[in-house]
Amino acid sequence: MSTVVIVGAQWGDEGKGKVIDYLAKEADVVVRGQGGNNAGHTVVVGDQKYALHLIPSGILNENTINVIGNGVVFDPQGFIKEIEGLKAKGVSTDSIKVSDRAHVVFPYHREIDRLAEEARGADMIGTTKKGIGPSYMDKVERSGIRVCDFVDEEVFESIFRKQIEAKNKIIVSIYGGEPLDADAMVAEYKEYAKFVKPFVTDTSVVVYDALKEGKKVLLEGAQGTLLDLDYGTYPYVTSSHPTAGGFTIGSGIGPNQIGEVVGITKAYTTRVGKGPFVTELDNEIGDRIRIAGNEFGTTTGRPRRCGWLDTVIVKYSARVNGMTCIALMLLDVLTGFETVKICKGYRYGDVEIEHFPASLNVLGKCEPIYEELPGWTEDLSDCTTFESLPANARAYVERIEALTGVPVKIISVGPKRTQTIVRGAIY
Ligand code: GDP
Ligand code: IMO
Ligand code: MG
Repeated sequence: MSTVVIVGAQWGDEGKGKVIDYLAKEADVVVRGQGGNNAGHTVVVGDQKYALHLIPSGILNENTINVIGNGVVFDPQGFIKEIEGLKAKGVSTDSIKVSDRAHVVFPYHREIDRLAEEARGADMIGTTKKGIGPSYMDKVERSGIRVCDFVDEEVFESIFRKQIEAKNKIIVSIYGGEPLDADAMVAEYKEYAKFVKPFVTDTSVVVYDALKEGKKVLLEGAQGTLLDLDYGTYPYVTSSHPTAGGFTIGSGIGPNQIGEVVGITKAYTTRVGKGPFVTELDNEIGDRIRIAGNEFGTTTGRPRRCGWLDTVIVKYSARVNGMTCIALMLLDVLTGFETVKICKGYRYGDVEIEHFPASLNVLGKCEPIYEELPGWTEDLSDCTTFESLPANARAYVERIEALTGVPVKIISVGPKRTQTIVRGAIY
């Protein structure tokens, strides 16, 4: 099967961008199918570091077509800024295609995101304030503006003005905010539409034709399983489906077209934003992981909460995504700990919980059941084969395979392309 899904197995920021870039050298098409510029995917090539938000992480490979699919919420302002940034670094952006069915993010979405978070007070979700939730709300409520209408001079202005009027009522009367300037926004977004138009096409046809011709398609997940609207730690989730099933709708592929599902998994656990986190280390060990792993958000710069690897989560991800293998990332960050811990179950009162619970009330009261393994002191960053890893690091990887029942096919020991150990064919 020539279609590979890359899915985040935890709370996002697992290193998806690095793996996409690595696998894209063999891919013909890379597709983003959900989320928007709330994503921050870091790719390091040589000494150059790229932070990608809306643009697929295949962009640094010359021969790859990069698709922003229909399931994405598309922010034209962010898109243009990102294109300009890439061009300034000498990266060609000619291969990008934007779905005519994707929904557009406008300033009122960002403003409502910000105001809604403020209004939640102590219950705030901790969103990226990129307008993602409000934009998906419009899509579901059937008042959103799609890319096909955004770039259509005959219809855009009138539907946009109606939406600005409706959203200003919400901003002013519900949140007590300042109304947005309709005329200025219309003028600005008409200019953006001209810029975006040449990229727009029916991307589901592009993907279908590629598959028909036997080409390799890589589906790039943003966020992660625990941020999924259904499977995540609701309400501390994003507003899309970052799980494997979400890709069929978000990119226009039939479920029978999906071959490998790679679960991108950090060798430990992190999350940004609020919500319960069973293995969180709110202590000097967590601080040490944060510094060693440079765990600060690519999109918002926020420090990420850090904790030991939680295999209750990884097993749950494996089940709901149909994960066929794991890419174990940032293993090098665990170097230097005398022992490393793996959470293999939860204790809830007197009961041991096997499956990741839906209720945050329950999750918030769960205690991790740890297994402690000996650590290693050797630097892993130059290891290129599994055999060259220290014995204790190999044992850690093998224990993860045993606890999750999923083979670890990729091991990442540094941010660079070359710092990647591959143990089995992905395509
Ligand atoms: P994504 O959102 O899943 O693409 O992940 P992010 O880019 O937000 O965060 C992952 C971070 O880890 C980035 O800064 C990467 O450059 C970095 N990274 C990826 N793999 C490795 C690795 O194996 N070791 C180390 N030290 N850093 C890594
Ligand atoms: P990548 O693709 C980590 C989190 C936010 C917040 C919640 C809702 O880089 O892994 P939103 O703005 O989506 O409404 O915020 O989701 N979040 C992410 N956390 N990585 C991401 O993307 C994220 N995208 C959203 O921090 O908790
Ligand atoms: Mg990220």
